[in-house]
Amino acid sequence: MPLCTGVADDPAPVASLSDAITLPPPDLEGPLSLEEAIAARRSIRSYTGEPLSTADLSSLLWAAQGITDANRGYRAAPSAGAHYPLEVTVAIGDVEGIAPGTYRYYPDGHRITLITVGDHRAALSVAATGQQSIADAPATLVISGVYDRLRVRYGDRAERYTLLEAGHASQNCYLIATSRGLGTVAVGAFDEGEVQEIMGLPAGEVPLYLMPVGRIG
Ligand SMILES: Cc1cc2nc3c(=O)[nH]c(=O)nc-3n(C[C@H](O)[C@H](O)[C@H](O)COP(=O)(O)O)c2cc1C
Repeated sequence: MPLCTGVADDPAPVASLSDAITLPPPDLEGPLSLEEAIAARRSIRSYTGEPLSTADLSSLLWAAQGITDANRGYRAAPSAGAHYPLEVTVAIGDVEGIAPGTYRYYPDGHRITLITVGDHRAALSVAATGQQSIADAPATLVISGVYDRLRVRYGDRAERYTLLEAGHASQNCYLIATSRGLGTVAVGAFDEGEVQEIMGLPAGEVPLYLMPVGRIG
């Protein structure tokens, strides 16, 4: 049962600060140059079985949608008119210090809040044509779009722009994963309704990409 859900245009407000887990600041230095990360990036579907750290989770979420310009609220991935139609939720199975469940990422404050309790990785894998990468990964990021956030300004280009933005966020996840010795893969083959239900997403928040992430040997 969802513990808290929001409406699409306005994700669930954090009920109280105690409900939120503030993530450590993202690492802003890594062992690889950008060029090395681009050259080494691959879709990786099998993982060692080790947990992710909160630092890993922090960097992945920051790369996907974190705030990189605190004054203007601009984020790591570009957005049409800076309207930010993307949401990132994460199905956590095995991340050190964080109980299994689905969580919503809030760029403001770099924190996550619980949506649904429990380890949903097996269900998420079934919803994604049984893809083993999702069952095995310690965590799977779900990049979703709220088309209505762009509709007033961009009309029937709202969906196109949102999908383009999901590509930017996904590529950032790939590159930060590569830099941290993690593997990920952009998964597009899944049942939208089932993923929405498992993740506890509100109506109007459409899952676009699943990104299972795990450590590689
Ligand atoms: C839109 C899109 C959907 C994809 N869906 C899946 C998927 O459902 N499962 C999967 O394992 N890989 C998926 N991939 C990853 C591709 O299979 C992968 O990018 C391709 O084989 C090239 O390998 P590389 O990413 O290592 O360069 C998808 C990639 C894109 C761009």
